Amino acid sequence: MRDILAELEERRAEARLGGGEKRIAAQHAKGKLTARERIEVLLDENSFEEFDMFVTHRCSEFGMQDITYPGDGVVTGWGTINGRQVYVFSQDFTVFGGSLSETHAQKICKIMDMAVQNGAPVIGLNDSGGARIQEGVASLAGYADVFQRNIMASGVVPQISVIMGPCAGGAVYSPAMTDFIFMVRDSSYMFVTGPDVVKTVTNEVVTAEELGGARTHTAKSSVADGAYENDLEALIEVRRLVDFLPLSNREKPPVRPFHDPSDRVEQSLDTLIPANPNTPYDMKELIEKVADEGDFFEIQADFARNIITGFIRLEGSTVGVVANQPMVLAGCLDIDSARKAARFVRFCDAFEIPILTFVDVPGFLPGTGQEHGGIIKHGAKLLFAYGEATVPKVTVITRKAYGGAYDVMSSKHLRGDFNYAWPTAEIAVMGAKGAVEILYRSELGDPEKIAARTADYEDRFANPFVAAERGFIDEVIMPHSTRRRVTRAFASLRRKQLRNPWKKHDNIPL
Ligand code: HXC
Repeated sequence: MRDILAELEERRAEARLGGGEKRIAAQHAKGKLTARERIEVLLDENSFEEFDMFVTHRCSEFGMQDITYPGDGVVTGWGTINGRQVYVFSQDFTVFGGSLSETHAQKICKIMDMAVQNGAPVIGLNDSGGARIQEGVASLAGYADVFQRNIMASGVVPQISVIMGPCAGGAVYSPAMTDFIFMVRDSSYMFVTGPDVVKTVTNEVVTAEELGGARTHTAKSSVADGAYENDLEALIEVRRLVDFLPLSNREKPPVRPFHDPSDRVEQSLDTLIPANPNTPYDMKELIEKVADEGDFFEIQADFARNIITGFIRLEGSTVGVVANQPMVLAGCLDIDSARKAARFVRFCDAFEIPILTFVDVPGFLPGTGQEHGGIIKHGAKLLFAYGEATVPKVTVITRKAYGGAYDVMSSKHLRGDFNYAWPTAEIAVMGAKGAVEILYRSELGDPEKIAARTADYEDRFANPFVAAERGFIDEVIMPHSTRRRVTRAFASLRRKQLRNPWKKHDNIPL
């Protein structure tokens, strides 16, 4: 008996070594943690339960029958993050470069199936050379099996990908279908075709970092939602994100203990809006002053910075925030910001996370670049996302809400539950200058007349009261009481019931 127990320990120890000491040292030399070390950081201490530690590949081509490693290049299982269950797979670069074999894929599929059945998020730690070259189509099939599960799990359990090494070829498409992608700066990259193929086909010379590093994907392509300095920081931030999320679409978001009075008054908000309507201010200040303990988890902070998206808590409950940022492009809506916010709104709605919208939007960004790029279709994404969302929606217009952008930004007309405005709000079809130039074209040669017309227009429309008279604004609120007002609004919506008509699925303008 003792021998058998000892043998188990030996086998376990061998599996834990992955591709061996030398390759582990090489991994460390690159500043990367190993697959198992990453799991240790990600999960609560001693909470990891492993599956399939002894699984090996079944390939016999290229002499592979003589080279097997228990676990076959991926560590899978489940554990907890602050006591809440998650499933995890962590690719082991020390075993065949973390490449995906048929059995490697089967291990990932097993925990994904369990995650969906048991209602818990899936977190994938990606560090892989892609399809296991020796296995050919069996490996491609393995990828497709994972893809299909990503699709089926979408909207059922949160899926989070962390890119912690290479991620190339079709391998990028599994992370692409998950809810959030985080990257590690300088040690991870994602691309469909690498620099060599790019050079051959297009003659472009580009480094892996430029083509698909963290900066590229967080600031340019928007493929990734955030980037961190190293493995440790990335994993700790994923823990922080998971604390905001429900375990599945069958559960409400978590409620955490909070020590921040919900009626906290913020006098400084009364002077947040500058006297000059064209002077920007930082919308993040409002978000942080409203949030419990000022805690804000921003999503896509480096992309389309004219709109802000992320999670806060109010009375301990998760709320998704979407807010125009007047500091960037005056807070205009454009293609990138509409796409960014639409995806975020749909995530919140899929997982029953209420949405708080702060509005200061002068309109859609004009120009051929935008029109030719399809702002009509992309802008419609955000309109569609807000309109189909059935979660509690609370909106606060702080300053400008002009034109179509007023409608889009979670207006009353898109089933906003509480639509508040600050006294500084300006709600109209367009700003005074543009309106007067169209309405009084014949008087344009007379600056005095035009100035009088502009002042008159501002008096009548640059305020929240025209909309409030019609009930499109439920209440004009004091800026300093915003936290109390929105918190009470969400509290009153906890049992909200609203269903869209039955359909197979909608046809959002993609
Ligand atoms: C099998 C692989 C492998 C792979 C790496 N290895 N990639 N084994 N299949 N795809 C092995 C290497 O042989 C090596 O084994 C070990 O992993 C480490 O690799 P190195 O090349 O020494 O590491 P490094 O210099 O850091 O380079 C990493 C790399 C490079 C950039 C990922 O290995 C590479 O380019 N690999 C091939 C990438 C690729 O073309 N994959 C297929 C993409 S197509 P030893 O024994 O020496 O430690 C694809 C299709 C998916 O993925 C389709 C889905 C629809």
